Amino acid sequence: MNIKIIGTGSAVPKLRVTNDDLSKMMDTSDEWIKSRTGIEARHIAVEETTTGLAVEAAKKALAMAAVSPEELDLIIAATVTADKFFPNLSCEVQSALGAVHAVSFDISAACSGFLFGLDTAARYLKQGGYNKALIIGAETLSKIMDWNDRSTCVLFGDGAGAAILSAEEGEGEGILGMIQGSDGGRGMVLNCSNRPVNNPFVTNDAALSYTSMNGQEVYKFAVKTVPEAITQAVEAAGFSMDEIDLFILHQANYRIIESVAKRLHQPMEKFPTNLQECGNISAASVPILLDNVNNHGRIGKGNKIVLAGFGAGLTWGATVLVW
Ligand code: UT7
Repeated sequence: MNIKIIGTGSAVPKLRVTNDDLSKMMDTSDEWIKSRTGIEARHIAVEETTTGLAVEAAKKALAMAAVSPEELDLIIAATVTADKFFPNLSCEVQSALGAVHAVSFDISAACSGFLFGLDTAARYLKQGGYNKALIIGAETLSKIMDWNDRSTCVLFGDGAGAAILSAEEGEGEGILGMIQGSDGGRGMVLNCSNRPVNNPFVTNDAALSYTSMNGQEVYKFAVKTVPEAITQAVEAAGFSMDEIDLFILHQANYRIIESVAKRLHQPMEKFPTNLQECGNISAASVPILLDNVNNHGRIGKGNKIVLAGFGAGLTWGATVLVW
């Protein structure tokens, strides 16, 4: 059975905020942000919501795949910024689409979330009984940023990406190698606390928590772990690294992507990026970039593609697929 991606879609908020715009609000500069990260602009939600962006991306992916919402057996949304504690984002999307037959649940694995969702869905489809799945990565990270903390708020953006997975007869195509990992022991290097315990039996007046990151620790984790995970996934798929046509990595920092390319002895031309325009959108980064390159005709049948994510948890994931 081949488990293939047959459609992709993406959506970003209307408002585009440049580094220069931010430098008017806080002590930062285009030069600092661009030289340290490669980021030039990001899209920030004003009227948009995580659900709205997810639905827009999902509709585009369904249209490209020529799949109707009723045909979906499964919806998995990866997010750390759902609009509600419950119902989950997937059920909200299911309702908006009219995907009445789809089992719908969310995955929380931050920037690796889309990879974890893809893996989970692929296993459902491989086992049988499920034929079509919608996987979404969607975030409005701007609402969990401390806009007084220039070391984090300039890095992130909002948006959503989606893919349709289909179980099809045959062997040797679609998803062939999947690797995931987690290291909860290092979780505090990138975190955002939820509400503290709060009820009539405790006194708790803690303020809302926002994203906090030890950037250098996350950087070191990424440049070591991502090449290892990709190498394992490529080996699991039975390919050599040189056979891979495209590496679609989580869009956190251009320097991290350059370092991964160097460690894998691969040219930067194989590593498309959109962080210049989108910043880091956690679970949405990989599916939005996948949709961007798909729409620009950079993916052809038979291409060997690596998708890789890494981030809070700490978590990481790499998937190898033949288009
Ligand atoms: O999806 C999650 C994955 N996240 C990541 O992959 C993030 C990985 N880490 C990184 O990308 C980098 O560590 C950062 C881009 C976050 C930071 O780059 P850095 O080279 O590690 O900078 P730094 O944190 O060491 O800060 C250097 C200086 C500091 O000033 P002093 O102490 O040297 O005077 C900061 O206060 O840069 C200052 N700084 C800024 N200056 C202007 C920090 N943020 C800013 C800013 N504008 N926005």
